[in-house]
Amino acid sequence: MNKSQSYLAIIVLAVMSVATANLFGQQADESHPNNETSSGITMAIAVLNPTAGNNVSGTITFAKVENGIKVVATVSGLTEGKHGFHIHQYGDCSGADGKTAGGHFNPTAMKHSAPTDSIRHVGDIGNIVADADGNATLEWVDSHMTFEGASSIIGRGVIIHAGEDDLTSQPTGAAGARVACGVIGIAKAE
Ligand code: CU
Ligand code: ZN
Repeated sequence: MNKSQSYLAIIVLAVMSVATANLFGQQADESHPNNETSSGITMAIAVLNPTAGNNVSGTITFAKVENGIKVVATVSGLTEGKHGFHIHQYGDCSGADGKTAGGHFNPTAMKHSAPTDSIRHVGDIGNIVADADGNATLEWVDSHMTFEGASSIIGRGVIIHAGEDDLTSQPTGAAGARVACGVIGIAKAE
């Protein structure tokens, strides 16, 4: 090996070591994927804020469980009684009346119905019932909603209505005005 061959060998080795470092760097990144890509989304959350002229707020959590998605809702500031509670198509609460959230989330093109019905909107959670103080809680394991695919609720809206969802009127259950709106986002897994 003459002098110029030696220089060439050193340059080749240097280039190879940089390339190898890059390769390991990439592998290191791939070994630290985020929760969503390693095991799928397991928790989601929507924080409800009042629409204009209302005082309704709350938090809805969605957790992946064996039989579907467990919905746990805590809402306050309601009038006593039943209030329509749905997932709507758009996660857009920018409109003062909540109508920017669109209609009920209905990726399977079904009729509006009760949450217990097999033929229903994916977004049909029925009603949440407030006590005399305006507080309401709900726990419901849903088999229609998912965290991935066409029925994924991630990024959709949650709406609480002024009135009762009659579970039959099309396409909304005639639940009246929208008193609170929230957007379903990915939450830290428990
Ligand atoms: Cu609704
Ligand atoms: Zn519906």
